Amino acid sequence: MSATVRDVPITAAAIRGEFPLLTNTAGGDRPLIYLDTGATAQKPQAVIDKITECYEHFNANVHRGVHPLHERITAELEASRKKIAAFLNTRPLDELDLLDDVSEIIFTSGTTMGINLVAQSWGRQFLKPGDEILLNPLEHHANIVPWQMIAAATGAKIVWCPLTADGRFDLDQFDKLLSRRTKMVAVTAMSNVLGTLPPVGEIVRRAHAVGAKVLIDAAQSAPHAPIDVQAWDADFAVFSGHKLYGPTGIGVLYGKLELLDEMGPFLGGGNMIDEVFDDHSTYKRPPFKFEAGTLPIAEAIALGTAIDCVQAWGWDVIHRQEQALLEACHERLEVIPGVTIYGPSVAHKGAIVSFTVEGIPAHDLGTSLAQRGIAVRASHHCAKPLHKCLGVDATTRASFAAYNTLAEVDALAEAIVNTQQMFFRRRG
Ligand code: ALA
Repeated sequence: MSATVRDVPITAAAIRGEFPLLTNTAGGDRPLIYLDTGATAQKPQAVIDKITECYEHFNANVHRGVHPLHERITAELEASRKKIAAFLNTRPLDELDLLDDVSEIIFTSGTTMGINLVAQSWGRQFLKPGDEILLNPLEHHANIVPWQMIAAATGAKIVWCPLTADGRFDLDQFDKLLSRRTKMVAVTAMSNVLGTLPPVGEIVRRAHAVGAKVLIDAAQSAPHAPIDVQAWDADFAVFSGHKLYGPTGIGVLYGKLELLDEMGPFLGGGNMIDEVFDDHSTYKRPPFKFEAGTLPIAEAIALGTAIDCVQAWGWDVIHRQEQALLEACHERLEVIPGVTIYGPSVAHKGAIVSFTVEGIPAHDLGTSLAQRGIAVRASHHCAKPLHKCLGVDATTRASFAAYNTLAEVDALAEAIVNTQQMFFRRRG
């Protein structure tokens, strides 16, 4: 291990100190080693406190009343929406000459709902037989299945862009497949299995050149790097609160206002209408047109608090710590006989390491690591097309955040070796 890999900023330890679950030994004699941030991030105390504060001090519904509680919680919710807009670097509303209550930020229940909303609302309206939706094997099922559903409903076709041999997005293949038939490119900003970071800005630029729209699935990238919808020139971008240190049940869909204005609603119900007549209704402008029913209000507000936390930690500290963890994990695992790490080199990926260990099924390995106090995910990670390309049914995945430590990487490597010894002893 080189000295530089060990040389991490002290502030990473301060970040860790904000997460009660990571220091909590209740139910055991040692803290959990949590290497499953790809599934969901742990929550800082400030986020937990904000949810409690909402319910203890200003619980009410939003946009529906005149009493002080309603006014307070509506103001908190809309402040969170503005914070999210700034976090994603959306265009300032005043430049768009908009009314106060128009926004490009739509609260959803998570990434899955955001993609389904775009597929069902934009797709149903604008896709026709022969149109193409371009996907690639890095995508999570949430960015595959909704497109298959809308393709079946509209006669559009799914086209797959192959990856490079080391699991990167292949821009040459992409160029060959792009055409005037391409109407939507749906692409992840970070693979939840390989950690691959596709060149999102370049993908958007090339897709726009043929007139296609682009949806960026930022679910995995959100806790690791800034989302800049203007720099990307993204038409749509989605992420989930719970992977960004926020609560479950809340997510965000960003869409360019002109596209959101053209699209019909996804769900009908209260709070999204202008007028309801006997035979039809008219709708509000975004975001409310897409927010039928009561939102997870406290969760949406606490997502704003999670963003405050990330901004207080700073992307530099987060990136340095995660890069150190990623490099250390590759170094430690690569020298264990029988271990195969999938995907590109550390230069082309974020802090996710998926691997197999020869002779040990991924699920058995995950269970053995869990028995040693290490939480990882072991499965196809909702990415079956990718696992088919890799030639394996399942992998074991260690996914990191800035709250992890190099000692935890060491513990993972030791636990893998111990598991191998146990398996081989059993076999005799
Ligand atoms: N999408 C989450 C994961 O990759 C659940 O584990």
